[in-house]
Amino acid sequence: MGRYWLHVTDSKGFDPEAESLSFKDRWRDTLAKVKVDDEVITYIKRKGEFAGLGRVSGVSGLEGDASSSSLALTVHRVKVKPIEARLHAPDLSFITNKDRWYVHFNKSIYEIPKKDFETIKEGLTTENPAAAADVSSKPGRHLDKLKVEINSRIATGITGLDSILGGGFPVNSTILVTGGPGAGKTILAIQFLLQGVKNGEHGVFISMDERPDDLRKEALKFGWDLTKYEDSGELVIVDVSYPRSGLPSKEKYQINMPFTLDNIVRTVYEIISQIDGKRVVIDSLPAFGIHFEDEAEVRIAIHRLNNLLLSSGCTSIITSEIIPGHDGISRFGVEEFIARGIILAEVYRDGKEYKRALTILKMRETNYELKRYAFKIGKEGIEVLPHQVVFFDEAARII
Ligand SMILES: Nc1ncnc2c1ncn2[C@@H]1O[C@H](COP(=O)(O)OP(=O)(O)OP(=O)(O)O)[C@@H](O)[C@H]1O
Ligand SMILES: [Mg+2]
Repeated sequence: MGRYWLHVTDSKGFDPEAESLSFKDRWRDTLAKVKVDDEVITYIKRKGEFAGLGRVSGVSGLEGDASSSSLALTVHRVKVKPIEARLHAPDLSFITNKDRWYVHFNKSIYEIPKKDFETIKEGLTTENPAAAADVSSKPGRHLDKLKVEINSRIATGITGLDSILGGGFPVNSTILVTGGPGAGKTILAIQFLLQGVKNGEHGVFISMDERPDDLRKEALKFGWDLTKYEDSGELVIVDVSYPRSGLPSKEKYQINMPFTLDNIVRTVYEIISQIDGKRVVIDSLPAFGIHFEDEAEVRIAIHRLNNLLLSSGCTSIITSEIIPGHDGISRFGVEEFIARGIILAEVYRDGKEYKRALTILKMRETNYELKRYAFKIGKEGIEVLPHQVVFFDEAARII
């Protein structure tokens, strides 16, 4: 009976259709166990994706010493559609640490249970029934789940944005909205929650920086009466701003100090369950991050919170203040992985005027163009102009 292998590569540029996989000499003992006709799935670490599937047609370099031969597997590839490992982690038995699922991809090649292999294979080949037949697999229980995920969209509430995104954000996903101070992140996030209220999807705004009263006042300037929706139970503002500064909060919903992971996860879970929340905003991630001792702890916290949001069926926005080219997008090293989408808001100088631009840097399951679209903040909030693509030099960027 054949065996089932997981090949892990670090390279973002790895071609999942490559028919030859090379390995460092220390994997010699493992490669000695790989036989022709075994099956291999390739996982790309830097993307967090399962991206390749194939059947072994040869193993080379096993004879001779390390200096004279290079270890390689030749694989007969099948065309597949890459899938996010994160989404499948809950169903895979070799991933025992579900919160920190990514720690399990720490070897270049290893055997995984047949059942896990079949689960991943189903995901990889669902979009491609011909490929499924080729490796003799039957599409199964993941088919419906994946179809729902691929097709379902949630309206963003931002005029002009849904048309760029093919209908909105992918449902049950986490979107990172990033940009400098005053870029429009908080306004965008409020609009997203208000759209939810319109659709009957209750919203939770976790305010790390701004005091809820300031938030309500700012929203009122756009004619958005948050208090009305809070009173009707359709919207909740969770105050973290007062407790963070050591002051007592008069708000009904708050996360009390100590700001520990357990406390946060428990409180957020209780609030989401209590109001049947479907849309969540965390504003902002940097403010959230500073409460933890070190970056490893921040990463665990973000992962647990994100898992909670996803398993509660929520679609969420997390705001961050990172601009590519400066600190990179990922401040804590996990944002790109947890976020199914990244939206960047910028302000630039055009002659004597300041203008705004919005770019979709990433959006899974979406055909989008990497363009800077003009956007305005007007009386009714943010409006994206999908037909107005703008160009500017890095030097013109203000925020
Ligand atoms: N009523 C309004 N009409 C037009 N523009 C406004 C109005 N109110 C605020 N703005 C603009 O919106 C921007 C602030 O937006 P927002 O608070 O969403 O930014 P942010 O990205 O969340 O900033 P921060 O990082 O400081 O939290 C400011 O640049 C301000 O000029
Ligand atoms: Mg803000």
